[in-house]
Amino acid sequence: MSVESRVKRVTTHVLSEMKLKGEKISVLTAYDYSMAKIIDHAGIDVVLVGDSASNVMAGNSTTLPITLDQMIYHAASVVKGVQRALVVVDLPFGSYQGDSKEALSSAIRIMKETSADAVKMEGGVEIIESVARVLSAGIPVMGHLGLTPQSIHKFGTYAVRARQQEEVDKLLSDAALLEKTGCFAIVLEKIPAAVGTLVARQLSIPLIGIGAGGGVDGQVLVIHDMLGINQEFSPRFLRRYHDLFSEISGAVNRYIQDVKNGSFPDEREQY
Ligand code: KIV
Repeated sequence: MSVESRVKRVTTHVLSEMKLKGEKISVLTAYDYSMAKIIDHAGIDVVLVGDSASNVMAGNSTTLPITLDQMIYHAASVVKGVQRALVVVDLPFGSYQGDSKEALSSAIRIMKETSADAVKMEGGVEIIESVARVLSAGIPVMGHLGLTPQSIHKFGTYAVRARQQEEVDKLLSDAALLEKTGCFAIVLEKIPAAVGTLVARQLSIPLIGIGAGGGVDGQVLVIHDMLGINQEFSPRFLRRYHDLFSEISGAVNRYIQDVKNGSFPDEREQY
C-alpha cells in the first residue's frame, strides 16, 4: 500500500461530520508546492488556493487582476504537495460572473488541470445560477459571503460588513440560498461576531470565518499574514504566529555578510 493511500483524506463529507460533532475546521491558504506540503504535514484540514495570491504572490493591490491560468498554475502546484487536506480553489474575478456556462467551463478547467477537490465563488443570489450549474457537473462549491474582495470597487472599502439590519437580512438569505442550492460550506468574511454565530446556527453546512468571530465552525487565514511574511496588513482579526519577515531578512543579511567577507563557502562546503 502506498503512503498516499494510507492517509485518510479530508472530504466535503468529513467537513460536514466535523460540524455535526462540533469539531472546528482549520483552513489556511497556500499558493505553491512547498508551503502546501508543510501545512498539510502539520495537519491543516483545508488548503485554500485563494485569489489572495494576486496580493501576496503577485503584489497587486486587489484580487481582481489574477487570471484563471494563473490560479490553475498555483493550484496544480499546491495539489502536488497535499496528501490529506481538502484543496479548494478560488474561481478568479471575471471567470464566472458573466454567465453560468462560463462559470462551468472555468470550474471544469480547474478540476481537470489541477486535480483540486472543489472551487470557491464569491456572492449570493447574484451568482446563484452559476453556482447551480457548477454543482450540476458534480463539482463541490464553497460559497463566500460578507466582505467579498472581488467586489471591492462596488463597495469602495474593506470595512466590516453586515452592520445594518438590511445587510444582515441579505446575508442570512444568501447563506440559506447557497446551502439550499448545494454548497458544501461557506466562507464568511469580516462581519460582526454575533452575525457570524447567527448564520452558523441557521445553517447545517460548515461556516468558515475570517474576521467573523468564534461562533462559526472553522477559521481561515492567509498564510503570509499569519506567518508575518506580509507586514503591511494588520486587521483586528489577524493573529500573527511568527515574524517571518524579520527571520528571513535576518538570515539573508547573515548570508550577504558571509559572502562578502569570504567565510562562505568554507572547506566543508566545497568539492
Ligand atoms: O483569497 C483568499 O485568500 C480568500 C480568503 C481570505 C478566505 O478568499
